[in-house]
Amino acid sequence: MRFWPMLPVLLLLSSVAVAQNAHGPDVAAGEKVYLANCMACHGMAADGNGPAAVSLNPRPTDFTTPAFWASRTAGQVKDTIKTGKPGTPMMPFAQLTDADLSNLVAYLVSKKKK
Ligand code: HEC
Repeated sequence: MRFWPMLPVLLLLSSVAVAQNAHGPDVAAGEKVYLANCMACHGMAADGNGPAAVSLNPRPTDFTTPAFWASRTAGQVKDTIKTGKPGTPMMPFAQLTDADLSNLVAYLVSKKKK
C-alpha cells in the first residue's frame, strides 16, 4: 500500500481523536474514579448507602437529591473532594487531578434525580 493516498484519512482520524479529548468532562471516566475511591461510603447508586456507610456519622452525602445540588456549586463540590470535609469521615483526595475532579463531578451530577 502506498502511504501518500492514505494521508487525508490519517489526518481525519487524528483530528477526531483530538476532538474527543477536548470534549469536556467524561462521565464514564468519572465513574471509574468513583468506583475506586468513593463507592464504599457513598454507594453504588451514589445515594450515600455504601457498604461502609452504616458505621459513619454523619452519613455520607446522597448525591441523588436535587436539594444537595441546589445548595452547592460544582466548584464547591470539587474543592470538598480535594480537601475533605473537616469534622466528618470525608477525607481529602488531594491526589486526584483536575480532570479527575471534573469527571467525578460530571458523574455525580448524572446521578441526580430529575
Ligand atoms: C470513608 C468514607 C468516605 C469516602 C471513601 C468518601 N466519602 Fe465523601 N463523604 C463522606 C462523609 C461521611 C461525608 C459527610 C457528609 C455530611 O457532611 O453530611 C462526605 C461528604 C462528601 C462531600 C461533601 C458534601 C457537602 O456537604 O458539600 C462530597 C462532595 C463527597 N463526600 C464526595 C466524595 C467523593 C467524590 C469521594 C471519592 C473520591 C468520596 N466522597 C469518598 C464519606 C466518604
